[in-house]
Amino acid sequence: MKDIREIGEPVFSSGLENIYFSETKLCYIDGENGRLYYLGIPIEELADNSTFEESSYLLLYQKLPNKEELENFDRKLRENREISEILLKEEELIPKNAHPMDVIRTIVSFNGMLDEKATSRNEEELLEKANKLIAMLPTIVAYFHRIRNNLNTVKPDRELNHAGNFLYMLRGEKPSDIEIEIFDKTLILYLEHGMNASTFSAIVTASTQSDIYSSITSAIGTLKGPLHGGANEEAMKMLFEIDEKYNGDVEKYLKEKLARKERIMGFGHRVYKAYDPRARILKNLALKLADYTNNRKWIDMQIQLEEKAGPILGEKQIYPNVDYYAASIYYMLKIPFDLYTPIFAIARIVGWISHILEYWKSSGRLIRPREKYIGELNKPYIKINERR
Ligand SMILES: CC(C)(COP(=O)(O)OP(=O)(O)OC[C@H]1O[C@@H](n2cnc3c(N)ncnc32)[C@H](O)[C@@H]1OP(=O)(O)O)[C@@H](O)C(=O)NCCC(=O)NCCS
Repeated sequence: MKDIREIGEPVFSSGLENIYFSETKLCYIDGENGRLYYLGIPIEELADNSTFEESSYLLLYQKLPNKEELENFDRKLRENREISEILLKEEELIPKNAHPMDVIRTIVSFNGMLDEKATSRNEEELLEKANKLIAMLPTIVAYFHRIRNNLNTVKPDRELNHAGNFLYMLRGEKPSDIEIEIFDKTLILYLEHGMNASTFSAIVTASTQSDIYSSITSAIGTLKGPLHGGANEEAMKMLFEIDEKYNGDVEKYLKEKLARKERIMGFGHRVYKAYDPRARILKNLALKLADYTNNRKWIDMQIQLEEKAGPILGEKQIYPNVDYYAASIYYMLKIPFDLYTPIFAIARIVGWISHILEYWKSSGRLIRPREKYIGELNKPYIKINERR
């Protein structure tokens, strides 16, 4: 493939759409056919057979672990879950009405200042830092949630896996096996997704040879937006709006929304021009959870909305994305709306770090695109007293 610098003239691509700037072995999205692979393994295989821990290892180390490697990685994750006193104090100082995405952005950044070797580029040390960050993120989210509700924080339980422990710390009671299994699978589906906006943010920061904490802080800030990670929270709010303001009339909601040229949250994707394979898996998981909780209200509303939207949005190749069915799953797991995007971060941090490690090992080149200047040149400088 030709490097743009060899071509000479800059190309214009609004939103950097369709531009390659690096090479990766981590993830391939076949947007035309709705296929997704981590390290070449189809996402369906991973969702069926793998776990958060194993798929995280796959991405970070670029290979499936053997039994011993997985046990070591998982043991460290369990050991690294607790956060230091100073971070806990910091969490207690945060205003209780803060958005949890702002909380994790702040705490991860604060944590970076506590690491004397924050700027180390030693691979082994980076993988240690990665394990700690991945392990502690659920604790930061769960602790804040309990602090803001004046509840005692619940210490991590090493007997539980990553998914189960998060639900336990959040709710204060042990989740059932089926809840853990479904939540774990949602984490696998959120782990990684190529050069999305938050990963790009992380890489832009990493490309300046800044440290891993700064890169993750950048990524969290970017994930927060409703066009990216914030969409799962917005998708659930939308279902509530349909229920409360439209009395469950999906068709009326859809018509009014599209007439105002507004977006349906949880639909559409920059890369997929076919059905997002993660949404297909999540739809089945949502159905399973709806049966388990004996409440099909939300999933039925979602299926209805998908069916009604299909003929209209399908023309523009817009289908449900990962955030659409994740929303009702998290609701059925009794997770508050504003924690849906932090959960996305709990998983996607693995993708962010895997990309940072891969980028630093490969070109590591400073990212510096251009802007096409459309202003005037050689305008006179008018002194302030002479300006109108
Ligand atoms: C994800 C998203 C930003 C990608 O958008 P994009 O690649 O920039 O697509 P565009 O903005 O160019 O949209 C193309 C057309 O589809 C429409 N469209 C895109 N997503 C839409 C949605 N969710 N609902 C309704 N219309 C949508 C646009 O209005 C536009 O229509 P037009 O050509 O008639 O003006 C967009 O689909 C979106 O906003 N989705 C909702 C938020 C969301 O779920 N984000 C999570 C992504 S995983």
